[in-house]
Amino acid sequence: AMTSKLHLGQLIRFRANPFHEGDEAAEHVTSGAILVVDGKIGDIGGADALRKRHPEAKVEDHGNGLILPGFVDAHAHYPQTAMIASWGKRLIDWLNTYTFPEESRFSDPSYAQKIAGRYLDLLLAHGTTTVCTYCTIHPASVDAIFEAAAVRGMRVFAGKTCMDRNAPDTLRDNAQSAYDDSKALLDRWHGRGRASYVITPRFSPTSTPEQLAALGTLWAEHPDCLMQTHLSEQTEEIAWVKGLYPEARDYLDTYEEHGLLGAGGLYGHAIHLEPRERDRLREVGAALVHCPTSNTFIGSGLFDMDGLMADGHRIGLATDTGGGSSFSMLRTMAAAYEVAQLRGRALHPAELLWLATEGSARALRQDSIGRLEPGAEADFVVLDLASTPAIAQRSAVAETVWEALFPTIMMGDDRAIRETYVMGKPSKP
Ligand code: GUN
Ligand code: FE
Repeated sequence: AMTSKLHLGQLIRFRANPFHEGDEAAEHVTSGAILVVDGKIGDIGGADALRKRHPEAKVEDHGNGLILPGFVDAHAHYPQTAMIASWGKRLIDWLNTYTFPEESRFSDPSYAQKIAGRYLDLLLAHGTTTVCTYCTIHPASVDAIFEAAAVRGMRVFAGKTCMDRNAPDTLRDNAQSAYDDSKALLDRWHGRGRASYVITPRFSPTSTPEQLAALGTLWAEHPDCLMQTHLSEQTEEIAWVKGLYPEARDYLDTYEEHGLLGAGGLYGHAIHLEPRERDRLREVGAALVHCPTSNTFIGSGLFDMDGLMADGHRIGLATDTGGGSSFSMLRTMAAAYEVAQLRGRALHPAELLWLATEGSARALRQDSIGRLEPGAEADFVVLDLASTPAIAQRSAVAETVWEALFPTIMMGDDRAIRETYVMGKPSKP
């Protein structure tokens, strides 16, 4: 039997990218509704009209709650859950001191399962319904996250992190085993339920040219898969890449030369880009992923959101947990606002919200998530715009939905997430 439910509340819907069309790109429905039928959005609009059109539907009234698409985190490292907020290091020392020892623990599949479940529960508590995550070198770390996602019904993107140099023995594969393990995992998981496999060379410094080439070959054999990696995050890292790849024109060229530049490529950070790199990324339609809490926490730099968006780049937003200092896409939007301010531009709340939902979904080449539209998957959140006394006294005097939302973006945390729905089902029992 078809189950249909009408969720009543305020809505924000995007008609276009607000970076290109301004806040006219968004529509606020004060008294709105979405109809959920068998895990998908069947209808959306004003509450009165939807009640009339669907008199048979059960009604759930969220009052003044704001219904939004579930947040989409376009770049994270779930194995870094237990070492987030580790003190005092820049990128390379941070990897060697904190990250690699923790990732080594994932040789134990039961540890991977424990952290995968903990991580996805944290995401749901923070209103995130889809993540694109790195795993570790261990194939069981990939099984763990996809199994935990299937239990929760979540659309998750993930891949085995490949490294065959400049990492401890416990975390090194080789060109052939990276290819073979990735291929086996891809065959097992890609397109199974809501799972998508992502080919994942960690970054050029931890792969030999042979490994990058092997993964480039795998990508060419599976062009419907996404490929994720890191690009031009920190100046010391860029200098290191120059030394390791003396023939390369620039950092991006180390990927381009090995078949790892394409429209399905997700390039995390992308802060210190050369003009050629910017041009090539745009020409091929690759996605850049902005990780603002990570870029401030690790001291990497200020992403050029305005310039890259104006040039027509595809851009998503992400926590980069645990280089990023939060699991929350609200906190991540706040950091994106602060980073843009430091570059002289105040991002509108509509732009921040678009990045955390539709922008990240588009970076992942998805149009069935990140939007409230008929036919989309019913992954959505209900926000409380007065979740703490400090926020409530600000939103109480707001004259527009943007003024009401902005204090929650800047000061909100998991208390602002009243409920997270995955395929129409509430994640809290
Ligand atoms: N570059 C290579 N690996 C990582 C990682 O785990 N986190 C961040 N922030 N940057 C990286
Ligand atoms: Fe990262």
